[in-house]
Amino acid sequence: MQIATLRTQRLELSALRESDVDALFEACQDPDIRRYTTVPTPYERHHAVEFVQRVAKGWDAGSEQTWAMRDGETLAGMVGLYRQGGGTAELGYWVAPGSRGRGFTTEAARAVIDWALSPEGLGLVRIEWRAVVGNVPSARAARTLGFRFEGTLRQALRNGSGARDDGWIAGLLATDDRTPQPWPVLEH
Ligand SMILES: CC(C)(COP(=O)(O)OP(=O)(O)OC[C@H]1O[C@@H](n2cnc3c(N)ncnc32)[C@H](O)[C@@H]1OP(=O)(O)O)[C@@H](O)C(=O)NCCC(=O)NCCS
Repeated sequence: MQIATLRTQRLELSALRESDVDALFEACQDPDIRRYTTVPTPYERHHAVEFVQRVAKGWDAGSEQTWAMRDGETLAGMVGLYRQGGGTAELGYWVAPGSRGRGFTTEAARAVIDWALSPEGLGLVRIEWRAVVGNVPSARAARTLGFRFEGTLRQALRNGSGARDDGWIAGLLATDDRTPQPWPVLEH
C-alpha cells in the first residue's frame, strides 16, 4: 500500500523519514508519551531508527498506517491506525510537548478517520480508541472527534515500561453522526 499523504488546514500528514529520527527521539523522552503510549522506556535513539523502519513496513504490508504530523518543518506528532482486522482498527496519537494545546490532534485525527472510513482508504466500519484511565487530554480529543464512550477495560493496557492499567474504550462507527456526545467520565 502506498502512503496516502493527507493535508489539513495547518498540517501535512506524511511519511516518516530518517531525518525525523532526532525529533522523534527527543519527543519520546516526554513523560506523558512514555506513560500513556507503548513507546519503549527508556527510549533510546535506536528505537527511533527502528520505528521509522516499522512505519515503512506497515505501509508496505498494509497492516498499519502511521503518519507524521508536520507543522511546517516541525514534527508535531504522530497519528496512526493499529490492531487492524475485520473492518476495525485502533486510532493512536501523540503530540510533542511543544506542539500541544493547539488542536493539532483533533485536526490530524479527523483527516485520518475520514480516510480510514472511506472506500478509497480502508473502508472500516468501526474505529476504536483506548487510553489509560485518567488520560483526560486524549479522552477530550476522542470525544471531540465523535467517539462514543463504551466503558472501562480492567487491567487491559500495558505501556512501554510494562505498567498495567485499566483502560477507557470508545468507538466510532462509519454510520455515526460525529457530533460530540457526553462522556460520563468527563462530565463533572
Ligand atoms: C493527548 C494529546 C495527544 C493531546 O494533544 P493536543 O494536540 O494537545 O490535543 P488538542 O490540542 O487537539 O486538544 C484535544 C482536547 O484535549 C484538551 N486538552 C489538551 N491538553 C489538555 C490538558 N493538559 N488537560 C486537559 N485537557 C487538555 C483540549 O482542550 C481539547 O479538548 P476539547 O476538544 O474538548 O476542546 C497529547 O496531550 C499527548 O501527546 N499526550 C501524551 C501521549 C498520549 O496520551 N497519547 C494518547 C494515548 S491514548
